[in-house]
Amino acid sequence: MLFELSGVAAARVLLMGAGRNGKLDPQDFRKAALGTLRKLCDAGVSDATLFVSELQITDRSAQWMMAQVATLSIEAAYRFDAMKSEAPSPVKTLKRVTLASAGKSSQKASASLESGRAIGEGVSLARDLGNLPPNVCNPAYLAKKAIELGKRNRLRVNVLAEKDMAKLGMGALLAVSRGSRQPAKLICMEYRGGKPSQKPVVLVGKGVTFDTGGISLKSPAEMDEMKYDMCGAASVFGTLYAVSRMKLPLNVVGLIPATENMPDGEATRPGDVVTSMSGQTIEILNTDAEGRLILCDALTYAERYEPSAVIDIATLTGACIIALGKVATGLFSPDDKLASELIDAGQTAWDRAWRLPVWDDYQEQLRSNFADIANIGGRPAGSVTAACFLARFAKNYRWAHLDIAGTAWISGKKKGSTGRPVPMLCQFLMARAGW
Ligand code: BES
Ligand code: MN
Ligand code: ZN
Repeated sequence: MLFELSGVAAARVLLMGAGRNGKLDPQDFRKAALGTLRKLCDAGVSDATLFVSELQITDRSAQWMMAQVATLSIEAAYRFDAMKSEAPSPVKTLKRVTLASAGKSSQKASASLESGRAIGEGVSLARDLGNLPPNVCNPAYLAKKAIELGKRNRLRVNVLAEKDMAKLGMGALLAVSRGSRQPAKLICMEYRGGKPSQKPVVLVGKGVTFDTGGISLKSPAEMDEMKYDMCGAASVFGTLYAVSRMKLPLNVVGLIPATENMPDGEATRPGDVVTSMSGQTIEILNTDAEGRLILCDALTYAERYEPSAVIDIATLTGACIIALGKVATGLFSPDDKLASELIDAGQTAWDRAWRLPVWDDYQEQLRSNFADIANIGGRPAGSVTAACFLARFAKNYRWAHLDIAGTAWISGKKKGSTGRPVPMLCQFLMARAGW
């Protein structure tokens, strides 16, 4: 940081090393930009001008860089103080970022900034919902937030109560919420930006607001992190927010099965057999494999929208963290075209996914002696068998599943939600809208 340089109007100038120009890849650029923006926030700078437009980034346009800077500025300034009795003082945060460019700014440039901003704000919304404690962010809270989001952003919102789910025969979803004092909600949000005849993309987000494991109780270490088990749902909120802010000419539906997974005298037992909305019976051998149970009924419910594609987003398996760590989201789809759309979107937004198989060869691991299917498939390929379970409920449309167990939040000292995969989902929808 340099102070009061002669001949320079700015009081402070921060120099950022970005490596060799022309050899800068998207990863390096993001790292340098985020590092710089964080440093500005830490230094209490509220107004900054960035001179980065002459940087050449491998395979990326100037527009891409602008959108990234907008998103990263919001990411860098993000704080979560909602539960602190006093906001940390002094409350200084980056309020304005200006991008200097040699030419005059074009319409295209401002559109990039606007979409980058919409994505950044969508990420912040997802992070806020994830970071809230589970005694605040329960199924009823998510339902209330959906109604609020709907009012502000012109979404049609409808919330189903447990009695509605019972009428629809959602025995799998209801089996998970049985052990909780908090009633489950099925939240349906509709964004109509496209022609009425255009078939919607349906996003289904796992909304387990706390996962104790149920009767198959988890061990105590880091159990607090299971408040993040609704990050799939949070990403649906964030994406719908961004899509409506960008006014994308598309129809998008968000479906959120929201519930707690708790153990009590009413809770589902290992060995219980339940009937899903699809009619398939399920032997629940482990009550901690609850995500697939709530998603399967939501996936069946999704059929009524006659979707062009259904994407579910879920913190589904610890095994996905073993397979891919905290870098890539797990992507599962029998549909090559849909899979590559999502991989490309993740690559562009730099919120990446890696594909794993959903081959029928794995289905035999889900065999049950007492029902049509078991809800666990043993230790080998745990993320794949979870996806294979879901595949049995997603046969009537094009479908993909994103396992975000490793990417939705960060553990340890910097514990907090990441807002992933909001950027990937937004980019996917932007591409579908021809943006
Ligand atoms: N929400 C968890 C998955 C999870 C665990 C995500 C840790 C991130 C960190 C999910 O409901 C779960 O408990 N899955 C079980 C499945 C198993 C019982 C087949 C798991 O991964 O252990
Ligand atoms: Mn679980
Ligand atoms: Zn879970």
